[in-house]
Amino acid sequence: HGLFTYDPGFVSTASCDSKITYIDGGKGVLLHRGYPIEQLAENSDYLELCYLLLNGELPDAAESERFESTIRRHTMVHEQLTQFYKGFRRDAHPMAILCGVVGALSAFYHDSLDINDPHDREVSAYRLIAKMPTMAAMSYKYSVGQPFMYPRNDMSYAENFLYMMFATPCEDYKPNPVLAKAMDRIFMLHADHEQNASTSTVRLAGSTGANPFACIAAGIAALWGPSHGGANEAVLNMLDEIGDDSEENIQRFIQRAKDKDDPFKLMGFGHRVYRNFDPRAKVMKKTCDEVLKELNRSDDPQLHIAKRLEEIALEDEYFIERKLYPNVDFYSGIILKAIGIPTNMFTVIFAMSRTIGWISHWNEMISGEYKIGRPRQLYQGHETRDYPKK
Ligand code: CMC
Repeated sequence: HGLFTYDPGFVSTASCDSKITYIDGGKGVLLHRGYPIEQLAENSDYLELCYLLLNGELPDAAESERFESTIRRHTMVHEQLTQFYKGFRRDAHPMAILCGVVGALSAFYHDSLDINDPHDREVSAYRLIAKMPTMAAMSYKYSVGQPFMYPRNDMSYAENFLYMMFATPCEDYKPNPVLAKAMDRIFMLHADHEQNASTSTVRLAGSTGANPFACIAAGIAALWGPSHGGANEAVLNMLDEIGDDSEENIQRFIQRAKDKDDPFKLMGFGHRVYRNFDPRAKVMKKTCDEVLKELNRSDDPQLHIAKRLEEIALEDEYFIERKLYPNVDFYSGIILKAIGIPTNMFTVIFAMSRTIGWISHWNEMISGEYKIGRPRQLYQGHETRDYPKK
């Protein structure tokens, strides 16, 4: 057509410039503000990474203290929001609940919705970082019919999340430090991934001037699909379906994944940008081993299936030719399940972790120059025709 480029799936279109995250898919490199994800996962923690993604630099001790105490101050949600949860059916998927309640935050916190005011943008970011674990845990508590637990501000971010998930008013819950550390690492590994489908959705929604809570709700909706954040839940369902780690059985599923007439795909495998190992998957695999060792569950049957599946796929021509490797979701589900988190909460945890990435990108866009996002199309429909006479 000559007027614009046709690029379905935005395979080769850069929609913005950004200073937040860099990926070299060929080499399997992921940097946040220049720092390799492996070094951050080893030495930093989720809240420090939040500060880094949002502000561009690591905090010094005073900045870190101020940031963490601000986040702690915002962990509770408006009491009226608990009523909102109660309108859902108990068997609703927690992602369905999360989409709704995060969108509803703009109805609760409209004191800070001037997107052109840097202070308001900052407060919205703090509220989102602080309240997401509370809201995520509430969606779980609601589904199992237990009372909501108020956040514990004397605990770390990850410990508090585990506490709100697993404590009850009749029984205290002391988070295991190894599991809390693994949880924090899962948050870190999902924190940002440049212009993926959900982040691009947040930017697109934000480019219209919509408020940040509405934009994040849009991101949550985009994340939900099995090609994106829903993959971690789909991996566990797949491992369940595979059932045993016999060579013959695993080969059967590998053949199915290769068969173009079969909709079955190897979940947790492949990535639009990585044509090499996803560096997050390597850290995740190590964390998975640590968690199962701590729980004396190194013989977990699903772990065996996953490892064998990975080995067989990586030796198979089909996967080699297409450069398909395990991605971040391949091992995260096994860790989450071992911690005791139900499968339908996996994508919710991805959403709470990615919130910092979404809000950092939204903030970067709004504080710079931007245009409303408005892709063009290749029209394939009818030419002009006359409405039939009656
Ligand atoms: N199993 C079997 N074949 C696959 C898979 C897979 N998991 N992934 C890609 N392929 C094939 C695909 O059929 C195509 O084959 P051909 O060239 O013969 O038509 C080739 O590999 C290239 O794949 P594509 O579909 O063009 O790649 P894409 O960039 O459009 O899709 C993807 C990327 C992640 C959606 C896809 O690999 C997939 O569906 N993977 C499984 C779901 C998954 O694990 N998603 C999580 C992604 S990482 C977490 C996140 O950021 O959300």
